[in-house]
Amino acid sequence: MGKCLTYKILENHLLSGKLVPGEEIAIKVDQTLTQDSTGTMVYLQLEAMDIEEIKTELSVAYIDHNTLQTGFENADDHAFIQSVAEKYDIIFSKPGNGICHQLHLESFSIPGKTLLGSDSHTPTSGGMGLLAIGTGGLDVAAAMASGSYYMKVPKVLNIHLTGKLKPWVSAKDVILYILKTLTVKGGVGKVVEYSGDGLKGLSLTDRATITNMGAELGATTSVFPSDAITYDFLKAQGREKDWVELSADADAEYHESIEVDLSEISTMAAKPHSPDNVDSIKAIGNIAVDQVLIGSCTNSSYKDLMKAAAILKGKKVHPNVSLGISPGSSKILKMLADNGTLSTFIAAGARILECSCGPCIGMGQSPKNNAVSLRTFNRNFCGRSGTKNADVYLVSPETAAISAIKGSLEDPASLGPDIVIQEPALYDQNDNYFIYGNNPDVSISMGPNIQPFPTSKALAGSLEGKVLLKTGDNITTDDIMPSNAKLLPYRSNIPYLSRYCFSGIDEGFGERCKKNDGGFILGGENYGQGSSREHAALVPLYLGVKAVIAKSFARIHKGNLINSGIIPLEFVDSSDYDAIDVLDNCIIKDLQDSLQQGAFMEIYNQTKDTVIKARFTGSQRDIDILLTGGYLNYIKASLEE
Ligand code: F3S
Repeated sequence: MGKCLTYKILENHLLSGKLVPGEEIAIKVDQTLTQDSTGTMVYLQLEAMDIEEIKTELSVAYIDHNTLQTGFENADDHAFIQSVAEKYDIIFSKPGNGICHQLHLESFSIPGKTLLGSDSHTPTSGGMGLLAIGTGGLDVAAAMASGSYYMKVPKVLNIHLTGKLKPWVSAKDVILYILKTLTVKGGVGKVVEYSGDGLKGLSLTDRATITNMGAELGATTSVFPSDAITYDFLKAQGREKDWVELSADADAEYHESIEVDLSEISTMAAKPHSPDNVDSIKAIGNIAVDQVLIGSCTNSSYKDLMKAAAILKGKKVHPNVSLGISPGSSKILKMLADNGTLSTFIAAGARILECSCGPCIGMGQSPKNNAVSLRTFNRNFCGRSGTKNADVYLVSPETAAISAIKGSLEDPASLGPDIVIQEPALYDQNDNYFIYGNNPDVSISMGPNIQPFPTSKALAGSLEGKVLLKTGDNITTDDIMPSNAKLLPYRSNIPYLSRYCFSGIDEGFGERCKKNDGGFILGGENYGQGSSREHAALVPLYLGVKAVIAKSFARIHKGNLINSGIIPLEFVDSSDYDAIDVLDNCIIKDLQDSLQQGAFMEIYNQTKDTVIKARFTGSQRDIDILLTGGYLNYIKASLEE
């Protein structure tokens, strides 16, 4: 049987282990990317690894999330990242240059390479045939230091595309249709690999829109073959030398396969408050709209904005609608300025926003109370817009543009014959927002917002502490460490953030931690679901949390707990959860002996004089990481060997 593209790339990068689903392997990492919101911590961790030089072929530090400068904090963080980038020969992308994934696609993505990014939408580059994976920041720092990344071998889900899109139906509608079919859990533990005749009708940036929202399927990543369309895009970027042809073997074997006939897809929208709550625009109907935003790493390409402009040309934005446009990159903005499209937007009454994540991360443009906001973005969770009671719908740029004119959700098909926008034959070549250059002796800029981050100690003997908090089921990383426009500037300041840990659930948590010198957390089912934010592990570590004992864990958060040095343990009998109360004193004896793969370990509840059983379900390497005192200590030790 032939090989799928995913396993071909993995095989080319395999450092250890076997390509068997569920097995742990190490792969060579060619490229890394960071954005500033996770990047400050990544570069603090990289600095702590005390290395001479990074091992990746190319690493880029983008500033696109926290670009508002209403105080010194964000600007200080940017200066810190820029200085570390200079020290380690990492390319630095200045604020204003654009959104990391759009920029990476334009300037650095190379088919067949592996890319690890500290942002969940890193799979965007899979549209160009990279194996591009989003992960926690410490994994990215470790990949720069060691050149490798450990992962479980994913299964591969093939989506075979046939047919041709109907007029006015776009790549965004395709991925919304797939989300409706597979749901937000449909990609968990899998890589989604695209194939079929339908590929011919999808431009490179269309493909990137689809792989971008593969993150919403819960997939490890998504990947397209590299073909003539990929070549044309690279040539237009002046990078045709980076092209290689890549595809699965004709008789490739997949773990699962589905077929999607593109001609059957209609214009779609994801309704509040989940990206898989999808329906056709026809079924949703003409609801009144207050705000329309076009941009984000999903839909801010040249083609996306030119199509929106073609719809807006000579028209006026509805009096009740605020239309905001954030181009994905400075190149695109310059091209729109040079070809007059910017003036089309301004003439229609649009607000031109910075080339950045902006409203997608709640940095400005929060809608009014009870607003309906149409966005070309990838997430519509409740409150992400900054307005808790707003209803956010995810749509294509075409649907966004026509709805901005009409003042209500409108099917672009009502415009008559389709307007076809081609990819440009040549993109603007300006790259003055990128800073290149290496100076190992540069002094690192550390403003007062940048505080030391916590590290764990090697584990030995017994673990004793009080139960500090008992949570319910489905606690999210947002519940553990809230993130909002007010807290985002403090991602490099763990002591400040620690004041807000679990603040929405239990305001006394931080005080209890301090008074009892840390201790344990008891969790319900699916503890730590949601965003991959490693601050949800680092901040509890700072507060002295030693172990979380839960009924079950969400996968990424469990990994982040292990990386930070906090032991995630699962109740053998989940009814034992009810037998422990807050402030009970608990002891785990002989940690080094009892922390064994899958083995039962006893937790003695001294307050109640009872014993409950728990187990650790990670790998032997995870145990080694915990015993060494977290991934940072582990990687430092392995780099010294
Ligand atoms: Fe930025 Fe939103 Fe994408 S925060 S990286 S535009 S998901």
